[in-house]
Amino acid sequence: MTENPYLTGNFAPVDGELTATDLEVRGHVPEELEGRLLRIGPNPVAPNPAIYHWFSGNGMVHGLRLRGGRAEWYRRRYVRDTAVAEHLGVPQVEGLNDEMLGGVVNTNVIGHAGKTYAIVEAGSRPMELTDELESVRYSDFGGTLPRGFTAHPKRDPDTGELHATAYHFEWQHLQYIVVGTDGRVRKTVDVPLQASPMVHDCSITKNYHLLLDMPVLFKPEEMSEDSPFPYRWSPDYGARVGLLPREGTADDVIWAEVEPCYVFHPMNSYEDSDGRVVMDVCRHPKMFATDAHGPNEGPPTFDRWIIDPKGGPVKEERIDDAGQEFPRHDERLIGKPYRYGYTASVGGDFVSGQLRKHDLHKRTTEARVEREGRSFLEPVFVPRSEDAAEDDGWILAYVYDRERNGSEVLILNASDFTGEPEAVITLPERVPFGFHGNWVPDPA
Ligand SMILES: [Fe+2]
Repeated sequence: MTENPYLTGNFAPVDGELTATDLEVRGHVPEELEGRLLRIGPNPVAPNPAIYHWFSGNGMVHGLRLRGGRAEWYRRRYVRDTAVAEHLGVPQVEGLNDEMLGGVVNTNVIGHAGKTYAIVEAGSRPMELTDELESVRYSDFGGTLPRGFTAHPKRDPDTGELHATAYHFEWQHLQYIVVGTDGRVRKTVDVPLQASPMVHDCSITKNYHLLLDMPVLFKPEEMSEDSPFPYRWSPDYGARVGLLPREGTADDVIWAEVEPCYVFHPMNSYEDSDGRVVMDVCRHPKMFATDAHGPNEGPPTFDRWIIDPKGGPVKEERIDDAGQEFPRHDERLIGKPYRYGYTASVGGDFVSGQLRKHDLHKRTTEARVEREGRSFLEPVFVPRSEDAAEDDGWILAYVYDRERNGSEVLILNASDFTGEPEAVITLPERVPFGFHGNWVPDPA
């Protein structure tokens, strides 16, 4: 093949690092928004189009700093892995733990314990970044992280601790990791498995850490020069969710089978009044079955699984059959009953178009549809204040506009989801389709 879809259009990498301080703003940036809107995605420095897989590209972090009603700066910086350091002609940062992986970190960017980290699954350590997004060092959380971390830790809103599932292709187990508010790992539990699946995300409830054990397995025997991505759809493995009591051991896991499928991202989970676990997910019918370059196996739907820890079949419901991904919600309600969720609509190949807002009580969905060629990236909810009601706040989202081949950040009033944006901040260059990001507020 000569053209790789993940190297064309707005999947293509942008060239070099950039800083801009004179940003055009339409509307009014809310004064309450003091912090950074960060996101990250692949921005490969030297990809081979024949074999490039979207998940493997070198990371680039994008950040928009808001303060005092102003958009102070936009920055984009490479995550300085081995190939990036060579490309830029700069020294490698310290702390690389897995030479074979090249130290690529490209999937999420978070604030925790006063630091900013770019993070990834499958082995590489988190990359500590400065407030202005320069790579500092690979971090093992002060010598407490056994190996790699994850791109999707969940912050318990009551304790401030991060809960995570890590995996590695050399392991036949998953590792439950709890990171304290001091930024150090306080607990790990290894849960044995029969194979080595790709496990992208996790979820928590009041009493459980939820493990996803889905049929995308490490199959080095199926790798080839033409197809070096080593994970393959393996439906005979089955699909299940593990309920690990948060203070329990591997022997305490309750496994619940679901129909074979793949889930990158739960939206949220909680326990209902009967003690059943309610888990909302973006469900892919399969994954990495036919396409060796990216996640492109038919549109993912928004589904609800209800799991009774006492046993019995999992109840699987479809909430919305439109293709959608990047599920987010008000993160003050992680692990708790919640009403509103937000997603970006996608086709099979993760190109997003509309934003969708779900009212899970009324079971209704609103879609924000802009003109043809405008694509939303993952929506991030920011509450108006610490004690504001759910959905009382803003949706912040990067948008790509194909017509002008450029990007903007939209600030939407979450309760007026389809209305005029409160502010639109034009960025100096496009932001490629990528993975995840977060609002990282300034310290109080
Ligand atoms: Fe993800």
